[in-house]
Amino acid sequence: MTRREDAAREAAALGEQLRRNAHLYYVLDAPELPDAEYDRMFQRLQALEAEYPELRTPDSPTQRVGGKALEAFAKVRHKVPMLSIRTETDITPGGASAFDARVRRELGLAEDGPQVEYVCELKFDGLALNLRYEQGVLVQAATRGDGEIGEDVTQSIRTVQQIPLRLHGAAPPVVEVRGEVYMRRDDFETLNERQREKIAAGQKNEKVFVNPRNAAAGAVRQLDPAIAASRPLSFFAYGLGEVTPPEQGGPAHATQFDWLQQFHAWGFPIGTQTQRARGAIELIAFHETIARQRDALPYDIDGVVYKVDSLELQRRLGFVSREPRWAVAHKYPAQEQLTEVLGIEVQVGRTGKLTPVAKLAPVFVGGVTVTNATLHNEDEARRKDVRVGDIVIVRRAGDVIPEVVGVLPESAARPVEQRGPVFTMPHKCPVCGSDALREEGEVDYRCTGGLFCGAQRKEAILHFAARRALDIEGLGDKLVEQLVDANLIRTLPDLYKLGFTTLAGLERMADKSAKNLVDALEASKKTTLPRFLFGLGIRHIGESTAKDLAKHFGKLDAILDATEEQLLEVNDVGPVVAKSLRTFFDQAHNREVVEQLRACGLSWEEGEPAARAPKPLAGKTFVITGTLPTLSRDEAKDKLETAGAKVAGSVSKKTDYLVAGTEAGSKLDKARELGVAVIDEAQMLEILENGR
Ligand code: IVH
Repeated sequence: MTRREDAAREAAALGEQLRRNAHLYYVLDAPELPDAEYDRMFQRLQALEAEYPELRTPDSPTQRVGGKALEAFAKVRHKVPMLSIRTETDITPGGASAFDARVRRELGLAEDGPQVEYVCELKFDGLALNLRYEQGVLVQAATRGDGEIGEDVTQSIRTVQQIPLRLHGAAPPVVEVRGEVYMRRDDFETLNERQREKIAAGQKNEKVFVNPRNAAAGAVRQLDPAIAASRPLSFFAYGLGEVTPPEQGGPAHATQFDWLQQFHAWGFPIGTQTQRARGAIELIAFHETIARQRDALPYDIDGVVYKVDSLELQRRLGFVSREPRWAVAHKYPAQEQLTEVLGIEVQVGRTGKLTPVAKLAPVFVGGVTVTNATLHNEDEARRKDVRVGDIVIVRRAGDVIPEVVGVLPESAARPVEQRGPVFTMPHKCPVCGSDALREEGEVDYRCTGGLFCGAQRKEAILHFAARRALDIEGLGDKLVEQLVDANLIRTLPDLYKLGFTTLAGLERMADKSAKNLVDALEASKKTTLPRFLFGLGIRHIGESTAKDLAKHFGKLDAILDATEEQLLEVNDVGPVVAKSLRTFFDQAHNREVVEQLRACGLSWEEGEPAARAPKPLAGKTFVITGTLPTLSRDEAKDKLETAGAKVAGSVSKKTDYLVAGTEAGSKLDKARELGVAVIDEAQMLEILENGR
């Protein structure tokens, strides 16, 4: 055998293996080979084809991204027109009955006659394609166009890994497989992430896609196959175009269902949800099942499709104008609609988060009428650049809150003078006027008004009354809601001005409950400094930080006046906590609340500042290892740190003492090696006592 013959044989074997494994990977989702091995074979085949160019066949796995960028798409006349399907106007599940009834009537079936068999498929939200195979090799991919004439998109479609370049197994002389090319939601997110990075890097011609369908359409109509290849597309086969008749060697199948199995055998993905159904009842059940699964599918669908299964019955039913009588699309409420932006507002949530919200001309989307849609945060609002007067795409999927997906390109392209101003996030809370801050590394602005802010009032009061704070028994959700809505409580001190008469006068409030609450309020006045501090609901100040602060400063006034540096000296207080405290107490109204609460009689025992306590062990580094006889490691650490020592996790030359208990391991060896002083618990307590 010549070298060339050897090469041809090897190339054929490699091609076969690569095809098989690509199919396992992309279509069946069950790879057998490690990626590296696949890559190795791929490169070997590329090398062989470089040496013997005649081995480079159009269906070679190396030829998915072959050609040069096109100038334009050529027109393609479809051999068999690409029809559209009638859409059932009744979007409730009952719409399926109307279709079944029509089919039965047109077939002349008696009321008590046999049930019609259907195939139920998903209505994928992508683009219809006609894929022409001659002698099993993909020769042309075309879009639907107007149904008669489409565009030749073979180059970009060759890059779709789920579409076989050569049919598996025996293939007829001619067959056209039709189906939907689409983009999965996760691929869409990844693509947009990459697009955003490109835009951020200053690439002017790049854009963010509004939805997977739009991104898929862009990829299919991409003239440069290299770019198309970087936009991951997927495919489902669902229909047949021209095919060699059985008498001339084409496959003979009697049902739509069998054709789907044939497509699968040829190497195409077919819908995993596809089901056979008998009669209207089973069609309705399918519609309902898919409605529940819709949001969890990895791709968008806009409905389901019912098709009469028997091809013989399909022939008898025929067509009306350009639509078959044997199929219908039964949609779900659209999850995206267009509408106009009437305004952009900033709303304040219960936790003080500021959210830009677009006010919309009412639009029916996802099954409800929507007038508000979130823009999430400052960055998203800027990126989408929504302006008043723009036409936007609004999305409401499942129970998720409606969001603005993006501005319609025509709207965004209007001259600047015709568009509203650029959205900017206010630096004051629109509800209470307090400073609104965006902390480093965070996407959200937050109102610093806390309990002063109307939007946060209910939350703030509930927090103040909670068991671990002021512990006001009987002041629950419903009551707080009632009190705030009746404007009886505007700030925390108002709580203590509530008298029996006011409370007893509330709806659904018994005298006994009113009396109990008055007593609970009175009892809550005698509290502790940590409970009071925690109760104020300052962001980042939890129970333990409140305790540390109280211990460190002793008195409330010392905390109110502490600088950020002084706050940082407190155990476990870092820059975020220090800043949050300072911001809170710098707002005059927050101070006012504190003063009024004191004036209402809230009191606690104040202590001496711990900060002035001597730090005899400042500058000394300790390491603790093994089990100590009386103290836990944390207790020992606490004692040492209170005395100003640093407690490290590992022994080094900088360690002054290793405190060793029983079962001390490698740290003990290391300390001995470095000549670090090794002491036991008793010696440690002695050092704490004497300061050395
Ligand atoms: S069958 C004669 N099946 O919906 C019937 N179409 O007009 C031809 N589509 O352009 C179409 N999923 O893009 C069929 N499982 C499915 C489909 C489907 C999506 C699209 C297709 C077509 C449009 C209906």
